[in-house]
Amino acid sequence: MADIILGIESSCDDTSAAVIRDGWLLSNVIASQDVHKAYGGVVPELASRAHELNIVPVVSEALSRAGVQPADLTAIAFTRGPGLLGSLLVGTSFAKALGLALDIPIIMVNHLQGHILADFIKEPGVEVRQPAFPYLCLLVSGGNSQIVRVDGPLEYTILGQTIDDAVGEAFDKCSKMMGLGYPGGPVIDRLAKEGNPRRFKFAKPRIPGLDYSFSGIKTSLLYFVRDEMAKDPDFLQNNKEDICASFQNTLVDILLDKLVKAARQTGIKDITIGGGVSANSCLRGRIEAEGRKRGWRTFLPPFKFTTDNAAMIAIAGYFRYQAGESTPLDVAPVSRMANF
Ligand code: KG4
Repeated sequence: MADIILGIESSCDDTSAAVIRDGWLLSNVIASQDVHKAYGGVVPELASRAHELNIVPVVSEALSRAGVQPADLTAIAFTRGPGLLGSLLVGTSFAKALGLALDIPIIMVNHLQGHILADFIKEPGVEVRQPAFPYLCLLVSGGNSQIVRVDGPLEYTILGQTIDDAVGEAFDKCSKMMGLGYPGGPVIDRLAKEGNPRRFKFAKPRIPGLDYSFSGIKTSLLYFVRDEMAKDPDFLQNNKEDICASFQNTLVDILLDKLVKAARQTGIKDITIGGGVSANSCLRGRIEAEGRKRGWRTFLPPFKFTTDNAAMIAIAGYFRYQAGESTPLDVAPVSRMANF
């Protein structure tokens, strides 16, 4: 009999539900929340309310697009954390209630595990191309910057991670500081396409091993803009493309330096990226170029799986279900979740 998994994702400001049958994606529905735009960041209270409004229609739509009845489901996978507690509560409670009503197992998933396993989502009509174990995943989002060694669907070792800000945070905070808007990553990415990535230099951190640090470059940009604006009040306006391109290029330099080091140390040549920042065009292009130079096989997720989505939660849940896992109904969501 086929294993049909319903995935539910509600960790931040996207309500999403997806259906996967034996690893093949049947549907993936995402309701994004525009309500936060006016505030320059996600407002947790508003996010929880929007999830509460969206969850029933989103799940119904995912089932209907998949042509699946609730009674056909084998298990329900949901994001337990990390994320905003009020948001996670909506998805977790919904999964529990539906699991209880249908008398099927529920399976908790770490959101980051979803990003790491996104390459295993198979889509009808799309060539299946998956990394071989062990592979390295550069996991880069608004909350994380990690290099993870993946030895199996449920076997992970964090080889390096940020000791302060995440790289997505550096994009977001610097964009806000320059008055460019939120979320900063897509804005900086867009402006950078028109700019010169080698015009300005920003200090790179000197952190031993495979760890990252992104708080110094934020300060370096802040002082640079402040000093230049003191000389020319129009400096930012007249040079924002070059600033964005140079800043983004430095962030990607930092990410790639450690990734190359990790690949060299482990001898692993299958490299994937995941998380919101993996949508960045400079990172994607440079990782592919690095791969060609070093004989890596690189795997870049389709854009729709770089942002928060339930398809990746469903595929992670599918692997956990196959490993015989299920989660007790007294599980509570957690805002921080270190273990995969
Ligand atoms: O994984 P994600 O959707 O949410 C979590 O942090 O869990 O990642 C969001 C982050 C934000 O910091 C956003 O600015 C960044 O991903 N991001 C990008 C791009 N698109 C989204 N960063 C750089 N370039 C992009 N194109």
